[in-house]
Amino acid sequence: MTELSVIGSGYVGTTIAACFADLGHEVVNVDVDQAIVDAINDGTAPIHEDGLAELVTDHAGANGTGRLEATTDYAAVLDTDVTFLCLPTPQNDDGSIDLSIIETAADQLGTTLAAKDAWHTVVVKSTVVPGSTEDAITPILEAASNKTAGEELGVGMNPEFLREGTAVHDFLDPDKVVLGADDERALADMHEVFDPLVERSDAPVVETDTRTAEMIKYANNGFLAAKISLINDIGNICKEFGIDAYEVADAIALDDRIGEQFLRSGVGWGGSCFPKDTAAIRAAARQQDYEPAMLDAATRVNDRQPDRLLSLMDDHVDVAGKQVAVLGLAFKPGTDDIRNSRAIPVIEGLQARGAEIVAYDPVAVENMHERFPGIEYVHTPTEALSKAAVALVVTDWEEIAALDNEFDLMSTPIVVDGRRAIDRRDGIVYEGLTW
Ligand code: UDX
Repeated sequence: MTELSVIGSGYVGTTIAACFADLGHEVVNVDVDQAIVDAINDGTAPIHEDGLAELVTDHAGANGTGRLEATTDYAAVLDTDVTFLCLPTPQNDDGSIDLSIIETAADQLGTTLAAKDAWHTVVVKSTVVPGSTEDAITPILEAASNKTAGEELGVGMNPEFLREGTAVHDFLDPDKVVLGADDERALADMHEVFDPLVERSDAPVVETDTRTAEMIKYANNGFLAAKISLINDIGNICKEFGIDAYEVADAIALDDRIGEQFLRSGVGWGGSCFPKDTAAIRAAARQQDYEPAMLDAATRVNDRQPDRLLSLMDDHVDVAGKQVAVLGLAFKPGTDDIRNSRAIPVIEGLQARGAEIVAYDPVAVENMHERFPGIEYVHTPTEALSKAAVALVVTDWEEIAALDNEFDLMSTPIVVDGRRAIDRRDGIVYEGLTW
C-alpha cells in the first residue's frame, strides 16, 4: 500500500482520503481549517456525504484503524509518497477559472518537498482547464522544490466524477478511472494507488497525458449539462405543442445511443460543477479564439428555464402582493447546497413581481436565508402552501413529490411544477414546465 497525502479537505478531498484509507492506504488529509482537521481526528466527517461518516469513523479517531488522520501541517507530506491536490478552482467574474488557490497550495507543497531527497508524485485532482497542470502547476512545483519534473518529481492529473450526495458511491464504484501523467514513473505511482479500487470495482482505466485528462473532465460535465439543456429545449418545444416531454423522453431513451439518464426536463441545472465547469471551458476556448457555440447555447437554454417557469405562473396569476409558495431551494434533492440553485433566479423573479414569498426546503433553508434574508422561510410545506395564491416546485424532494391534499390549503390551488414532481389531480390547476 502507499502512503498518501491529500491537500484540501472539502467534499472531494475528504471523500477520497476516507475512501483511499478504506482501500488500505495510509492517508493524511492536510487542510488550513483546524475545525475540519479536528473533526476528522475525532473520527467524525466534517461534511455530509452518504457513507462518509462511517468511513471516517472506521479509519480515523480513537476507534479507527489509524489509516486516516488530518493535520494543518504541510510537513506531513514528507512521510508520504503521493500527494493529491484537492483545492477549489472557483470562477472569476468573467467565468474563467481562478487557479490562485491551487497554485498557492502547489507552491507550499513544492517548498515542503524541497526537503525530501526521494522521489515524490503530485497528482492534481481539482478540475482545471486543459494545460493548467503542465503549464502552470508543474512549473510552480519545480521552482519551489528545486526538482525537475519527470526526473526527481512526478506530476499527474486524475479528474473526479463525484456527484454531491453520492460522492462515496461514485468514488468506490466509478465508471472509469482516468490517469493523466506526463512521465512514466508518475503513471506507475498512480496505478499503484488505484490498483485496489480497480480490482474491487473492475472499472476501466484510461491512461493519458495531463492535458487530455483535464479535458476529459470538462467534456464529461459539458456533455451532461448540454444533454439536460437539449432535453429542456426539446421540452420547451413540446410545451408549445401541448406534448408531454416526458413521454417523448421515455421513447427516445430506448435508443441506446441516447440512454435514459439526464433526460429529466425542467427548471435546469445548478450546483457547484456544471455552471462553473461549462463557464470555465467556454472561457478557455475563447482564449484559444474558438467560439464554443453548443456550450454557449446549453448555458443560454439553462439560464432561460426559471423565466419560463415564472411566465407560466404569470399566465395564471398576477402575484403582486400575493403569497407565493416556493417548494425546494437546494440545487437538487439530497443536499443543502444552494450554489447556482434554480431557486435563486426564481426568487429574484418573484421579488421583481412584488410577491410575498414563503419558501420551504427540507434542509437548505439556512443556506438560502443567508442569500435572501428578507423572505419568509418555513419548515413544512403546509406552512408555505397555507393561503398561497400559487405554488412553484423548484426542487424534486420526495417530501414535495408526496404533496397532495395539502394543496387544498391554498387560497387558489395553482401549482406550477418545474421538476415533474407533482401528480396532476382534480382540485388543482396544474401547469408543468415542459409537459
Ligand atoms: C455533477 C456531475 O454529475 C458529476 O459527475 C461531477 O463530478 C460534478 O457535477 P452534481 O452537480 O453533484 O454532479 O449533480 P448532478 O446529479 O449531476 O445534477 C446536476 C444538476 O442537473 C442538478 O441541478 C439537477 O437537478 C440537474 N438535472 C440532473 C436535471 O435538471 N435533469 C436531469 O435529468 C439530471
